[in-house]
Amino acid sequence: MPFADAPMLEHVTQPVLLVENGMVRFANAAARSILGSHVVGQDVRIAIRIPEAIAAITAPEGGTVRISGLSVPGSQWDLACHSLGNDRKMIVLEDLSVRVGVARAHADFVANASHELRTPLAAVLGYVETLEDDKAGGDPDTRKRFLGIIRHEAQRMQALVEDLMSLSRIEAVKHDTPTEPVDIVALAREAAGEVQNRAEVRLSTNCDSAMVAGDRGQLAQVLRNLVDNAIKYGKPGNPVHIDVETSTAGRVAISIRDEGEGIAPEHLPRLTERFYRVDTGRSRAAGGTGLGLAIVKHIAERHRGWFDISSRSGQGTTATVILPLLLRDE
Ligand SMILES: Nc1ncnc2c1ncn2[C@@H]1O[C@H](COP(=O)(O)OP(=O)(O)OP(=O)(O)O)[C@@H](O)[C@H]1O
Ligand SMILES: [Mg+2]
Repeated sequence: MPFADAPMLEHVTQPVLLVENGMVRFANAAARSILGSHVVGQDVRIAIRIPEAIAAITAPEGGTVRISGLSVPGSQWDLACHSLGNDRKMIVLEDLSVRVGVARAHADFVANASHELRTPLAAVLGYVETLEDDKAGGDPDTRKRFLGIIRHEAQRMQALVEDLMSLSRIEAVKHDTPTEPVDIVALAREAAGEVQNRAEVRLSTNCDSAMVAGDRGQLAQVLRNLVDNAIKYGKPGNPVHIDVETSTAGRVAISIRDEGEGIAPEHLPRLTERFYRVDTGRSRAAGGTGLGLAIVKHIAERHRGWFDISSRSGQGTTATVILPLLLRDE
């Protein structure tokens, strides 16, 4: 084989082609998935098919070029062609849409977070300015009312900053799987107890305890966020149901169900996006930031589990987290 090291390139994430005398001799898995397996053995100019790339590929010393439309229309790639001597070349492709996508998601996130902070901040500044004015600020009733609004807006900012910090803490540890033994039944009882003066919570279980390898604080936050949603968006006066069920498949499902208006199906897939809310006004009025379910999803994934939410308009919502049970010999 002219390229003895080729097998080492098979699983490199970037598409790589090895070319000899203008013919493709090797294409790794990533390259085959975008160009097709048939490119091996083809003239490289036919395999790549992009006129701008040909100059870089055919120049004896190689070169780099930005090309578009290689895989799907509109996709953008950086193509680098390195000469290996003896008319052998290595072509490495980099998908710019991945980089652009990450950068865009980051920019969107920063823009959303700033927007969410700016609204309450503007309100706080506005009311402080009014209070500084002797005429309006001098009246005790007005003063009291405005201070109440300032407190409320400041609490909103505090909740947002706390949620943002939670998200970044969870992201920072997302690759280390938690190990502390945590009893989900005990946690569910605590979550129900915490909100007993806000709503009636009915807990049902099919077991006395359900142990998982977890991060207790994070799992408590999952329950808190889901119970909080069920109370906020459920029917006032109706109970919230927490159901903890272990299965013989070695998993525990924690379901939180409310009897509220439910969620229209088109919103369901987007609910775990940061800042996504069905009714922004309603969520804001209830002190929501739109990060609660994003946090739940991240925590479930860190615990090798998953999160699902199902709902029928008018018939309430069920949010479920499924986690692997801790096996006795783990
Ligand atoms: N049980 C539910 N019933 C109806 N709608 C829900 C329910 N749970 C979540 N939603 C919808 O999903 C949106 C996102 O929920 P999420 O918990 O992420 O944010 P939030 O509750 O608005 O704010 P936060 O949880 O950060 O305080 C909510 O704004 C609401 O529109
Ligand atoms: Mg919420």
